[in-house]
Amino acid sequence: MVQVYVLHGPNLNMLGTREPGIYGSTTLPQIEDMLRKRGEELGATVHSFQSNHEGALIDYLQEHMSSADGVIINGGALTHYSFALRDALAMMKAPVIEVHLSNIYAREEFRHQSVTAAVCRGLISGLGWRGYLFALEALVALIQEETQEGKQ
Ligand code: DQA
Repeated sequence: MVQVYVLHGPNLNMLGTREPGIYGSTTLPQIEDMLRKRGEELGATVHSFQSNHEGALIDYLQEHMSSADGVIINGGALTHYSFALRDALAMMKAPVIEVHLSNIYAREEFRHQSVTAAVCRGLISGLGWRGYLFALEALVALIQEETQEGKQ
């Protein structure tokens, strides 16, 4: 089984009640459940972790750095200013996909910059909870493709 780690940053534990007009009414446990089930279909074990603390997210990444085949991250507001999170992501050998529920480029100016996206393989923004599922599908495809290439 491919090991995929999904990290959710500050305030994402409040999904469902947090500004539903922007983030939708789907809760974080519902998203985690959808990811786990889709992962099973794709041959991936999905591990989810949410924290409101920058250091806890970095600790989690470091802890799973060697076992991760792929990472999905929604850093929440940390996306826009956390160089420490960016440095932790830059250390990952596995591909990382950044996800945002909302379209960060269509919102306030301070959200237009992601300091983490440049060290990620790709970015999905504005597709709501579906963005996480698309990210998982893309990650598994990339991992399979790159494992195949590695064998040749
Ligand atoms: C977010 C966008 C960020 O700007 C915001 O701080 C969040 C959620 C998103 O998923 O759209 O917490 O990452």
